[in-house]
Amino acid sequence: MQEVTTEKKEFTPNIVAFCCNWCSYAGADLAGSSRLNYPANVKIIRVPCSCRVNPMFVLKAFQQGADGVILCGCHPGDCHYVTGNYYTRRRMALLFSFLNYMGIEKDRTRVEWVSAAEGAKFSAVMNDFVKTVTELGENKRLTDLRVKEGK
Ligand code: FES
Repeated sequence: MQEVTTEKKEFTPNIVAFCCNWCSYAGADLAGSSRLNYPANVKIIRVPCSCRVNPMFVLKAFQQGADGVILCGCHPGDCHYVTGNYYTRRRMALLFSFLNYMGIEKDRTRVEWVSAAEGAKFSAVMNDFVKTVTELGENKRLTDLRVKEGK
């Protein structure tokens, strides 16, 4: 008789984190050098400024199998390019509400401001975001099925 396994494979979400070079990436660096942990399934993409993230990058991330996308930038007023993160804030508010309308839950996307001195905040934000996305489960919207088959 064949044994039936009831073991459920634990879901590990794919998280894409766009981090601006001047604050958030340095915050991630500080988290690392301070030995504050955050999940290894957070894939950081360094960008010069949060406003460099074209909405198409977020759509592409979901298409390529991301379960959650987070953007991190300098605090409002601290952007290295003066107003970059104001553009990000407005642009992403619109994009995320559009994605929510398309069935990608709003908790799968997030914008956070993390300065270079906030390693602990970076770690806490990433842990919380991964926990939230893990509870939501796998993202099936917008995903290119050929990407999932290749897994
Ligand atoms: Fe960090 Fe613009 S340089 S958000």
